[in-house]
Amino acid sequence: SHHPQVPQHFRGRWSSRLGFIMAAAGSAVGLGNIWKFPYITGMHGGGAFVLFYLFCIVAIGLPLMMAEMVIGRHTRKDPVGAFKRLKGGGWTLVGWMGVVAGFVILSYYCVVAGWAVDYLWLALKGTFSHHHADQVPQLFGDLLTSDLSQLFWQAIFMVTTVMIVIGGVKGGLERANKIMMPILFLILLALAGYGLISPGGAKAFQFLFAPDWSKLNPPAMLEALGHAFFSLSLGMGAMLTYGSYADEDINIPKVAITVSVMDTLVALLAGLAIFPIVFSYGMAPAAGPGLVFKTLPILFSQMPGGTLIAILFFLLLVFAALTSAISLLEVVVAYYCDELKWDRSKATLIAGALIFVLGVPSALSNNMLKDWHLIGSRNFLDSMDFMSTNYLLPLGGLLITLFAGWILTPKVGREELLKGGGSQRFYRIWFFLIRYVSPILVALVLLNKIGLF
Ligand code: PHE
Repeated sequence: SHHPQVPQHFRGRWSSRLGFIMAAAGSAVGLGNIWKFPYITGMHGGGAFVLFYLFCIVAIGLPLMMAEMVIGRHTRKDPVGAFKRLKGGGWTLVGWMGVVAGFVILSYYCVVAGWAVDYLWLALKGTFSHHHADQVPQLFGDLLTSDLSQLFWQAIFMVTTVMIVIGGVKGGLERANKIMMPILFLILLALAGYGLISPGGAKAFQFLFAPDWSKLNPPAMLEALGHAFFSLSLGMGAMLTYGSYADEDINIPKVAITVSVMDTLVALLAGLAIFPIVFSYGMAPAAGPGLVFKTLPILFSQMPGGTLIAILFFLLLVFAALTSAISLLEVVVAYYCDELKWDRSKATLIAGALIFVLGVPSALSNNMLKDWHLIGSRNFLDSMDFMSTNYLLPLGGLLITLFAGWILTPKVGREELLKGGGSQRFYRIWFFLIRYVSPILVALVLLNKIGLF
């Protein structure tokens, strides 16, 4: 019993290669790059962590992104449908894990994005320049202890996300990305330029790139690997879903490389925008999750032109979050549309509502629910983030890698990667990486963390 108005063959398509690249880059570039990368780099000591992260992107992330796009375009299905069609049985669970990860990640992602919207609002009101530097960190404390404000901004952000996704692949996702991504790049370039010419620029450069290998312990390595997955939107079928809307003549390796390079550049530029200011004012780079909400705004309140910089910075953060959130929601919506045959509006509204509800404990996790420690001493929000980045995505990534290297007929990978003028040599390198190198590396990092060595 299919829905009468939506013929089964109707699925969205990107209008062009550029549309696909913008959307995939929009998914990849997010809070992960601007909120998380700088603070985890700060906590893990800089250089060595960054270099290991770059290694993970090239040796594991890039082949996996190509694998997800191959599976998506070949099946033209959501993650559950894709694995069901290609192999079925237990492998369908990999698709399921992806949909669950979409739920979990988007639930707390909306809360953090809500903080960014609140800060954009504060910046627009000129709040940072009206406060003495000592009072600024307290603004973050005030936000975290107000359950209502957090729920309010979380709701605003989720409603915006839903409104975009309801518009469909071309009219919603692609259009939103084509507007927001160029603005995002311009703002980031301006801020990084400002950072590099400021007094702390040289020190920040050194912090980001000069390795101190003694700091690279197993937890740091797992964090770097997990973050490579998170930042490139891998291991849960987001790139698979976006790939399922790509035209036959698109060269997947080219798109995957472009997207990975853009994502990495944005993370490094964000570091180059943030750390110089941090060092110029003699602050600690290891400030943790509060880095962009607590530390940076202090500086916005002291520097000349701080209000303008603050507005630009938080606009950047909100845009980055929004273009990623729509891809997380799209994974769930694609599942509802392809597998349950719901129409897009119904799927988007129901998914958005359910995910909002799952996000409520995260919004309350710093106040009403602050004593509810789920994993170790982590509150609900941090536990959701920890679980998805450190386990769901690496495990999902490992399984997709194994699937692409050992289960998927090599002919399929070959065909898909040669389309649009892809080279044979490139295909062979990919096959070698995905079959042998990436699974072994991911497994090593995971086992290492569990304490097997
Ligand atoms: N890549 C996004 C970020 O860096 C997060 C994300 C993860 C989006 C997984 C989609 C899928 O913020």
